[in-house]
Amino acid sequence: MSKKDVNRVVLVGTGFVGSSYAFAMLNQGVAEEFIMIDLNRDKAEGDVMDLNHGTPFAPHRTKYRLGDYSDCKDADVVVLTAGANQKPGETRLDLVEKNMKIFHGIVKEIMASGFDGIFLVAANPVDILTYATWKFSGLPKHRVIGSGTILDTGRVRFMLSDYFEVDPRNVHAYIIGEHGDTELPVWSHANVGGKNIMELIESTPGKSMEDLDGIFTNVRDAAYEIINRKGATFYGIAMGLVRITKAILDDENSILTVSTYLDGEYKEKDVYVGVPSVVNRGGVSEILELKLSDDEQAKFSHSVKVLKETMDPVLA
Ligand code: 2OP
Repeated sequence: MSKKDVNRVVLVGTGFVGSSYAFAMLNQGVAEEFIMIDLNRDKAEGDVMDLNHGTPFAPHRTKYRLGDYSDCKDADVVVLTAGANQKPGETRLDLVEKNMKIFHGIVKEIMASGFDGIFLVAANPVDILTYATWKFSGLPKHRVIGSGTILDTGRVRFMLSDYFEVDPRNVHAYIIGEHGDTELPVWSHANVGGKNIMELIESTPGKSMEDLDGIFTNVRDAAYEIINRKGATFYGIAMGLVRITKAILDDENSILTVSTYLDGEYKEKDVYVGVPSVVNRGGVSEILELKLSDDEQAKFSHSVKVLKETMDPVLA
């Protein structure tokens, strides 16, 4: 709360993801001021009215307001969910050119307001758009964060909790790499209540490594399955975005798999990609560097390579 007495969040993009995030923020009472911006001002204004009418039933006061880019000046966090989303059959990487152009315009306008807070990027391909936001904004790298693999990590924790019949809060497992087709699970460090996941499988009748592979495939392909059924995904990512916003505003030092800038960590540099990172009021303060197995490291490096090969021609 450096600039004012209240936490101010600005949301750019009030489509499915943005409006679900706005609603989840109201339900969890994370910020006092929530400003909504969209090209379609009527949609944003309708959302503002609708959300404000829900505030008498919320746990904490959040004031919603229609805004424009000048409102970013005093924002603590600006969340970017604008841009096209995947159609059935499209990959996240297919969106790169279209969304990069949109982001160029938006980020320039936001910076012209004098914005000096934290960017949280949640449009796809998220790792590449986070890198682009960092480049376009000129902000320090730790103050530009992407949602990265927070949702994939949530998905794997949910599926493992179902498989082992334990509370997801007792499942510790990360998905890292591109938020997309080349992501990978870090099974070497996964545990349930402190018990290593491989040991747990070996000691539990009826459980197998093949099942674990199947769970990862379901995690990786979850968005396609959801998009095939209802056209878009939004509730899961909205909850993940609230989690990150809360970690920032409450200065939590929480370890979350956000997309962050690597400068030699995990043997990679000059890329934004999902890895466990310490998130607090200053953004990302530290990267948690796990010792990956050789196979995990090879998959991680491949994921980074695919991101760079996709990004380089578009940013050049
Ligand atoms: C998701 O994983 C589409 O990136 C979005 O749900």
